[in-house]
Amino acid sequence: MQQKIKELLKKHNITLAAHYYQKDEIFDLAHLTGDSLELAKKTSSLTNPLIFCGVSFMGESAKILNPNIPVYMPKLASCSMARMAKEQKVKENIKLLKENDIDFIPITYINSSVTIKAIVGELGGLTCTSSNAKKIVSWALKQNKKVFFLPDKNLGSNIANFLGVTSKIIGEENWQKADIICYDGLCSVHQLFMPEHVEFFKEKYPNIKIVVHPECSPEVCKMADFIGSTSQILNYVKEHPNELMAIGTEFNFVNRLKRINPNIFILSSTKPECPSMNETTLKELYNLLIAIDQNKPYNEIEVDKTIAKNALKALNKMLELS
Ligand code: 13P
Ligand code: SF4
Repeated sequence: MQQKIKELLKKHNITLAAHYYQKDEIFDLAHLTGDSLELAKKTSSLTNPLIFCGVSFMGESAKILNPNIPVYMPKLASCSMARMAKEQKVKENIKLLKENDIDFIPITYINSSVTIKAIVGELGGLTCTSSNAKKIVSWALKQNKKVFFLPDKNLGSNIANFLGVTSKIIGEENWQKADIICYDGLCSVHQLFMPEHVEFFKEKYPNIKIVVHPECSPEVCKMADFIGSTSQILNYVKEHPNELMAIGTEFNFVNRLKRINPNIFILSSTKPECPSMNETTLKELYNLLIAIDQNKPYNEIEVDKTIAKNALKALNKMLELS
């Protein structure tokens, strides 16, 4: 199947992009890999068709940034955190902010639907990813405004802790006074990493390094030696190829990092796989390529023009700043 996939990609001049959380069977075939920001940047300059293996918001961002190429996804798999930012609830939150006379810049984590990015773009806000969130949020705070950060309350409060400012979830006591006001969303996978897991590894291996993604809870992040996006974690592992580490992020990625450093544990007592990322399999990729070859493509990403225009404003503003 791998061989046939390679042949069809070549025959149709298709670029295959994959996020680090993809299964190895997909990841090892990809022409382009990276974290969310890198993939958005790398795919934006393509001039040939693209198959994006990741979750829906990644394929949508690629299409909005590069509308002239066809973008396909073997599976339209939706990130659980992106699903938490429902249009109605986001609009209600924005209404509440306005009713409280709060002067704010909305910042949506790229893990959100195109509709949410469009709402944010229309309000003069912007997107961020885990690799540039500190930079984007500190830029917004320097405009003397508060930040409405969505959907990830963990990423929002971790950035607040890093920058030494305050954060609250909208609706919590005194939320109006916080510098960063967070939407009440999180990642169903990264919430699985607990302070108890950090304690367990530190007790057992006193010199172990704890490495986590900033979607983990603030309690876990405060105990970590290194916090970073997937690419930043990859670079950290490359720089420390012999160090004992427990890593708190998605399982497929952490398991693959053992190719670089065999002394790596997953920071969990379970196998924290992302069900949405795992929806894309080699068979799904193969089926899509066969359909393209038979001139019956499916799962081509299409975005309404007005929504795309406003979402592009939010994405472009982030790219200008990062
Ligand atoms: P990165 O931008 O760090 O790759 O994160 C994407 C993601 O969905 C993490 O859960
Ligand atoms: Fe979404 Fe979490 Fe999966 Fe990342 S790991 S794609 S945030 S559900």
